[in-house]
Amino acid sequence: MADEMEQALVEAARAVRENAYVPYSQFKVGAAIRTPSGAVHLGVNVENVAYPEGTCAEAGAIAAMVAAGEGRIEAVAVIADSPQPVSPCGGCRQKLAEFGEGSVPVVLATTDGTLQRTTLAELLPGVFSQAHMERAGRG
Ligand code: THU
Repeated sequence: MADEMEQALVEAARAVRENAYVPYSQFKVGAAIRTPSGAVHLGVNVENVAYPEGTCAEAGAIAAMVAAGEGRIEAVAVIADSPQPVSPCGGCRQKLAEFGEGSVPVVLATTDGTLQRTTLAELLPGVFSQAHMERAGRG
């Protein structure tokens, strides 16, 4: 993705990350999704005392995108204060793949400025897709 667009997306994720609700892990994550309209949808992780009920930043950004009436991901940024750029969990990789082609660029960032550039396909090789349900008449 173009440098300025990448930078803007990372900065949006960086800013929203401050709002993460993380009383249990103290690990704040911010996510930003850009759609073809140019809109940027934001998410943070929201934890819960019933630990499995917590939600990831990526899931929050997806929910915001869908609530705004949009459904195609053009680019993604995720940021955390981690030694290495944060690695989206398996569930979020599948959730992101629901709304984007494999070629969609994903930038994984640390708060101190390290960037790792990848794509949805690299994050989730062998993604389960609707095509797999063809024989059930649902492909
Ligand atoms: N987390 C995210 O929000 N996104 C990721 O990509 C990795 C992990 C959250 C979940 C939990 O609130 C905290 O980080 C620690 O796992």
